[in-house]
Amino acid sequence: MAMRIGTPLSPNATRVMLLGAGELGKEVIIALQRLGIEVIAVDRYANAPGHQMAHHARVIDMADPIALRALIDAERPAIIVPEIEAIATDVLADVEQAGLCEVIPTARAAQLTMNREGIRRLAAEELGLPTSPYAFADDFDTLQRKAASIGCPCIIKPVMSSSGKGQSRVDDAGALQAAWDYAMAGGRVNRGRVIVEGVVDFDFEITLLTVRSGPHGGEITTHFCDPVGHRQVHGDYVESWQPQPMTAAALAKAQDIARQVTGALGGRGLFGVELFVRGDQVWFSEVSPRPHDTGMVTMASQPQNEFELHARAILGLPVDTRRDAIAASAVIYGGMDATGIGYDGVADALSVPQSDLRLFGKPEAFTRRRMGVALARGADVDEARTRATQAAAAVVTRAP
Ligand SMILES: Nc1ncnc2c1ncn2[C@@H]1O[C@H](COP(=O)(O)OP(=O)(O)OP(=O)(O)O)[C@@H](O)[C@H]1O
Ligand SMILES: [Mg+2]
Repeated sequence: MAMRIGTPLSPNATRVMLLGAGELGKEVIIALQRLGIEVIAVDRYANAPGHQMAHHARVIDMADPIALRALIDAERPAIIVPEIEAIATDVLADVEQAGLCEVIPTARAAQLTMNREGIRRLAAEELGLPTSPYAFADDFDTLQRKAASIGCPCIIKPVMSSSGKGQSRVDDAGALQAAWDYAMAGGRVNRGRVIVEGVVDFDFEITLLTVRSGPHGGEITTHFCDPVGHRQVHGDYVESWQPQPMTAAALAKAQDIARQVTGALGGRGLFGVELFVRGDQVWFSEVSPRPHDTGMVTMASQPQNEFELHARAILGLPVDTRRDAIAASAVIYGGMDATGIGYDGVADALSVPQSDLRLFGKPEAFTRRRMGVALARGADVDEARTRATQAAAAVVTRAP
């Protein structure tokens, strides 16, 4: 049955709670509000980008199960949309199980993807999908043994981390101790567990934005956006573009992998499936059960961007994943550690042909914190990338 949408701020409002209100959550909130949803935005600090858009802004530690449960009980949203990984996911499982709220895409998906071990074992061991060779270690001795069997070069990552935090590439065994120490310092929770992965020698990597949508109680169908290519530095994305050219065979494999992984996670919503590609070969890397940072390019390349697709899928509405332009995105960094910084050069940035800009409005900048993104269309990927990079470079951050 189709979901009826109520009137925001009235007793019949359709209430959606975003857990995480960063730049991705902000765009999801805008998309939901355009469809008449009442939004409660939650983050761990005040005035987060999504807080500035929502009907209600709440500040709690979302990793604290007691605080999270109390907030859900107080707000009683119909739908909970996790935007980050660091959430007390057992609480999501409880409220889903009790039938109190729907969790997007599912509580199990949030649980499996917040830990690299859960999603890797599902993909490689249950689904039999191709991945890098991998092993897990809880102490340095085990890491040495596992790394020796996988061989160098390898990559060490805390099992609980994102955006490249605590992650390092090891080219010879002498660098293992430093990688272990770095992982211990950079993990989200100090569980002391790492994954060691063999390095995949890929030609390029993509995010395949995959949407599972369908009416509530009806059949769910899977839709794919064109592949998004991207460039990562220290495990963090610096630019992305769409489409990434690839062979028909590789694209078919990528879609098959994405269909299987998202199908196993279940539920409805948009997923960012990260894949490595060499020629016709494709490896699964990881998946976000939510819009992906590299997918911000779709704000310039698709009539329904990844955030709008997520909002529609969440609400059981029809989706259209078509691309109508070639486009690119380039990240704008804080460039300093300061609160309340300024942005000069916005007019110069927007003078670049077919460009656009998002400044996220984050209260506090760090040197490598993502504060905005430049978007641009072009006749081909090269032109779009050049323009997006030019527009991003034109924005100059200033101390307050
Ligand atoms: N096994 C591997 N072989 C080759 N490159 C890798 C491998 N693992 C990671 N990388 C590189 O490091 C990047 C970040 O890795 P990964 O996606 O696992 O970390 P992350 O911290 O979850 O990053 P994010 O949250 O930004 O997606 C990848 O996009 C890829 O460029
Ligand atoms: Mg990643």
